[in-house]
Amino acid sequence: RPRVLSGIQPTSGSFHLGNYLGAVRQWVDLQETHDAFYMVVDLHAITVPQDPAVLRENTRVSVAQLLGVGLDPERCTLFVQSHVPEHAQLAWVMNCLTGFGEASRMTQFKDKSAKQGTDGTTVGLFTYPILQVADILLYQADQVPVGEDQRQHVELTRDLAERFNSRYGKTFTVPKAYIPKETAKIFDLQDPSAKMSKSASSPKGLISLLDDIKGSAKKFKSAVTDTDTVIAFDEKQKPGVSNLLSIYSAISGRSVPELVEHFEGKMYGALKTELADYYSEWVAPIQDRTRTYLDDPAELDRVLARGAEKARAVASPTLAETYERIGFLRPA
Ligand code: TYM
Repeated sequence: RPRVLSGIQPTSGSFHLGNYLGAVRQWVDLQETHDAFYMVVDLHAITVPQDPAVLRENTRVSVAQLLGVGLDPERCTLFVQSHVPEHAQLAWVMNCLTGFGEASRMTQFKDKSAKQGTDGTTVGLFTYPILQVADILLYQADQVPVGEDQRQHVELTRDLAERFNSRYGKTFTVPKAYIPKETAKIFDLQDPSAKMSKSASSPKGLISLLDDIKGSAKKFKSAVTDTDTVIAFDEKQKPGVSNLLSIYSAISGRSVPELVEHFEGKMYGALKTELADYYSEWVAPIQDRTRTYLDDPAELDRVLARGAEKARAVASPTLAETYERIGFLRPA
């Protein structure tokens, strides 16, 4: 079985629809066909300030939510990044292989550091993509299911894997990004030119899966569209409507052309109301399952302990081989 690996940050109380459609939904599918490793990346989370109690709680909620949307610890390896010390260890090696200019070209760093200012920007935020490289290479992943915004980090991973392999001999699998086009980028409901993101200017554009369902339905109903009335898929002329169609298609399993036909002759309001209703029905059982896992902390701990053990069984030999290749003296 080919191997997949991916991660998600525990930085808010809930995943948003962009996280789910762009990445996590693929994780659920891939656990059936691939040897799958998924993690909650708490080491990445601390690249920006975190309140300790909130971080701990958000990590639990993230794990419960991943189980709630359908990850099955019998079918995949689900763990917390800091439980596997090899991530930080391999990241150091990768740091020493990365050019300063190369790291400076990471667009997500440029965006995030611009928001934080020079003094608010940590060195950790700068080397964030290199920790991600280590995450992926430790498991010899073939594919990395992520949204479009992570493509550059996967490219960096490929570059560093190839660089290491050519310098020290074949050690790492060179991975590929796995990004289905239809949901590669989900947009903000209030500003369809921006990706849906927890740092968006208005909370009205963001659908978080664990939020109050009535509130989310309202957000769909007040989504920004355009002044035309025809429901059609056209990302340039009708980004707002196209985003709603993509979302509706992804959660309902009905194709975009089928939906366009279904809404022929109807107004935008019909699309928004129907999507709001469909979403409400769809998300309710996800919320219920997530709560069930959150109510059983002992079970959550068991899942994570087993996950960390399975992850380390793969990560540890990779790190040992890396250390060997670069010429570290083996401890006696
Ligand atoms: P994070 O936590 O920001 O996001 C998790 C996943 O959600 C995707 N995503 C989106 N997809 C489509 N539309 C959107 N609006 C949208 N917003 C977010 C992201 O692309 C991502 O796949 N650096 C990663 C976490 C990470 C990782 C890794 C991923 C750490 N190590 C190793 C893969 C492999 C991140 O911050 O994702």
